[in-house]
Formats: sequence, C-alpha cells, structure tokens
Amino acid sequence: MEQVKQFLHLGNNKQTPTPPTDEQLSALREKYTKAGQGHVFTFYDSLSTSDKAALYDQLSLFDPSYITELASKALAPPKPSSDGKSEAALEPLPDSARASIMDSSASDIDRWYGAGLDLIAANKVAVVLMAGGQGTRLGSSDPKGCYDIGLPSHKSLFQIQAERIRKIEQLAAAKAGVDAASVSVPWYVMTSGPTRGPTEKFFREHGFFGLREENVFIFEQGVLPCISNDGKILLESKSRVAVAPDGNGGIYNALVSSGAIEDMRRRGARHIHAYCVDNCLVKVADPVFLGFAAEKDVDIATKVVRKRSATEPVGLILLKDGRPGVVEYSEIDKATAEAEEAPGKLRFRAANIVNHYYSFRFLETIPIWVRGLEHHVARKKIPYADLESGETVKPEKPNGIKLEQFVFDVFPQLELEKFACMEVRREDEFSPLKNARGTGEDDPDTSKRDIMAQGKKWVQAAGALVTSEDPEAGIEVSPLMSYGGEGLEGLKGKEIRAPAIIEVESE
Ligand code: UTP
Repeated sequence: MEQVKQFLHLGNNKQTPTPPTDEQLSALREKYTKAGQGHVFTFYDSLSTSDKAALYDQLSLFDPSYITELASKALAPPKPSSDGKSEAALEPLPDSARASIMDSSASDIDRWYGAGLDLIAANKVAVVLMAGGQGTRLGSSDPKGCYDIGLPSHKSLFQIQAERIRKIEQLAAAKAGVDAASVSVPWYVMTSGPTRGPTEKFFREHGFFGLREENVFIFEQGVLPCISNDGKILLESKSRVAVAPDGNGGIYNALVSSGAIEDMRRRGARHIHAYCVDNCLVKVADPVFLGFAAEKDVDIATKVVRKRSATEPVGLILLKDGRPGVVEYSEIDKATAEAEEAPGKLRFRAANIVNHYYSFRFLETIPIWVRGLEHHVARKKIPYADLESGETVKPEKPNGIKLEQFVFDVFPQLELEKFACMEVRREDEFSPLKNARGTGEDDPDTSKRDIMAQGKKWVQAAGALVTSEDPEAGIEVSPLMSYGGEGLEGLKGKEIRAPAIIEVESE
C-alpha cells in the first residue's frame, strides 16, 4: 500500500528546490562543460535564487556525457543503403511463431481463453498502459485517455479501458468460482511530465472508474533533453532545458525506476499485457492472447492486424536477419511489399499495432539491456532560448531533434522461440485515435463508429433485432455488460432501435 501512495503522489510532492552549494554547482558545471554542454549555464548567474535552484535540479537529472553520446550517435547514424531500403534478409515469421484468430480452431481459441481467465483469476496478470504521448495530432489539451470520442455515454478512453478490466476480473472470478473482490488485475498507467498531473486528476475525479485505487499505479516515464542539429542541449528559456518524453520505449526504464516491476513481483504477476491508450477497441488483459502466449511460453508476444494493401504505411512484424523485429513501411522495397503468399494475401502482412504480451521473467531483465536500446531521431520545431539575448524563439522549421526509444526495439534481443505473434481482426481489436475530428481517418468519429459497429454486431449475434432509420447507426455496449460479445443472451428476440446504449442497471 505504501508503494501505491508513492506512485500516486510522486508528481505532486515535489518540494520547492533548494539552491545548490558552491561545491555542488561547480561539480555539475564541470560535468556539463566536460561533455561539451557547458552553455546550459549561460544565464545561470543572472537568475533569481529559485530559478537557479530549479535549473540546477533539472540539470542534475541528466548525465550530460550520456546525452552527448546519444546525440552524436543519433545525428550520425550508420549510412543507409542508397535507396533507404533495408538490406537485411526479411522473412515472415514461421508458422511455429504465429497464429491467426481467423484460422485458429474454435477449440484452440477456447483453450487459450480459458487458460487466460485462469491466470487472471489466480492474480498472475498485470496490465501496462502507455499513455505518455503528447497527442499532438489530436490537438486536445488533455491527455488522450481523457478524450470523449462522442459515444452516447460520453465515456472517455480511460473509462472504457478501466471497465474492460473490471469486467474481465468478474468473468475470471466467475469461471474460477471465487469472489470477484479476490481477483485483481493491477493497471500500471505510464504517463509523462505533461500528462501525469491531468491523468491523476481525471482518475481521482472519476473515482478510478470503479477500480480499486490500490490497483491503479500512475507513474511517469522519463524525459530527455531536446538537442540542436549540432548536438547541443537546447534551453527552452534562461532557466529551463527543453525536454521531451523519451518515446514509448521509455516504458522499460520507467517500469524499473518507478518501482512498478517491484510491485508486480510483490503481487506475483507473471503475465503482462501492454498496450497504447489510443486504441478504443483494445481488449485489455485479453484472456485469449494471454493464454496463447503463456501456452507458448514466450517472453514477448505481439498482436498484429492484417495489412490492408501493399501500400498501407504500417510497420511490419517479421524476421530480420533471423531475429524478430519491426520494419517500417519506408524501409521495404516495392517488390517485397507487394509479394503475395496466395492470390490476394500479402506475404508480409503482419501490421504492428503496439499491443504486447511480456513474461515477468523478461521484464525482470530490463536493467541488463535497457541502456543499449537504440534512440531514434524525430526532427521537430523546438522553441529555444537564444544564447545571446535569452529570448525564447519559436522556429518556423525543424531546428533540432527529440530522442525517442521505440517499444519494439527490444524484439531482436529474443531468440525466435521466445517470440510469438497473433493476428487478430482489425474490426474487432484495432481503431486508433490519432487525428483531430474531421480528418476522416483514425479520428474521434472513426473511433466512435467502430465501437458502435462492434456493439451492433454483438447484439445481432445474440439474436436481437436492430432497427434504425440510419443504416450506419450502431449500438454502444458498455464493457461492464460485455467484454467481448458474451453475456448478451437476454437480448434475444428483442427489438433495439439504434443508436442505443446497452448497459448494466447500476450505470
Ligand atoms: P504516438 O506515437 O501515436 O504518439 O503514440 P501520440 O502522443 O499518441 O500522438 P502524436 O504523435 O503526438 O500525435 C503511440 C502510443 O505511445 C504512447 C502514446 O501515449 C500512445 O499510447 N507514447 C508515445 C508514450 O507512452 N510515450 C511517448 O513518449 C510517446
């Protein structure tokens, strides 16, 4: 319990920084100067006492020689081939490492589902949510998880996901014949500097969406300084370094430094589901996926959807030089992208949706490999303090880079037999919220449409008659009513006028 409190309050408990002693200051100055980053102290002597303390505190967070090393690696990556395409040997994953919900037998799927529910009922499952992104394309000032996609219930993405956790706990308890209160799926919510405060507030205001507070762990991923195109740490003002979250691959460092891994160990969690906040159809703690991965005894499994066409710009899960990995769309040549396994079926079709299973034994090894995880460059327009005038300048074109780690960069570390991939139906499991309303693709309207279409399909499959003047109108089925279409038998023979909400009485 102590640990839970720590997680929740860490962000709010920051004490007012105290100014450093002269020795502390000169030691830090020397570290930065040696690393070629001494300019970050340009305005230090002219700052107020509290600004001096704040800058000192912020600079103390980083190891400047490590930052300089990352920046020079990122700015001078190994030369790509002349056309930018991958020269690695690419192969689809072998059948032994993959399964598809579309062609698996009902008995396999039932077995995985049952095994997954058993693991949940035995309190061996935990869930990690990646919600540290800044959602710049969506353009909302709140964290993405707070977003109301316009469902009749106006539930936020966080609420939908929390309710799926509550429901799966209930289903697992029912299967095991135990009290629902004895089953917990802890939810580790990764935020970042900009999203942590508002996320915590939102969870509190909504009573943790009915989850037990001690089962929700809000923690913060790290940040890295933004770097100029010539490798220098950028100041955003005279007293602050420009920083950005370290990418969704920051999950690995943050799981350790936040104490989340320790907490998982204390609880006995062995199987972990990790996913992105923006997928409104995500099956949180999906028993089928957990059961599949646990049966295969892998360290990482990943869900994929089928690539829509040879030109869809998605990353692909495959074997790269014999190792599991992700290859970006831009790295694949046309012939490879278009190659077919059978007429109309692409050879490379496993589209990455950042939806993963991890064994706990693998997450325990993070400290061994995490420093070697690559950093990628995102070229951005980064407001910076001019070192002559101290004025903050808003550049019109990209003037620097943000350094990001990618969550999937860890895949190649695994031997093939420790990695598996499960293909799922896009319409059932993947609809990301990326863009602002009106974009027509991966925006709030497509999220709402896909949830409502799924609900309609479920109630029709349960034998209800859906009527509507609008053939597009769907049905919102509360996750508290049904996790994946089950439990709707009571609707058989009923007429439902869409749009409608099907929810439990207490809602
Ligand atoms: P995206 O790369 O789509 O970024 O994140 P985003 O922040 O949601 O949106 P844009 O690019 O700024 O418009 C994919 C997932 O990874 C998480 C996001 O919260 C989302 O769930 N993420 C991304 C992090 O957790 N941390 C990061 O530093 C970056």
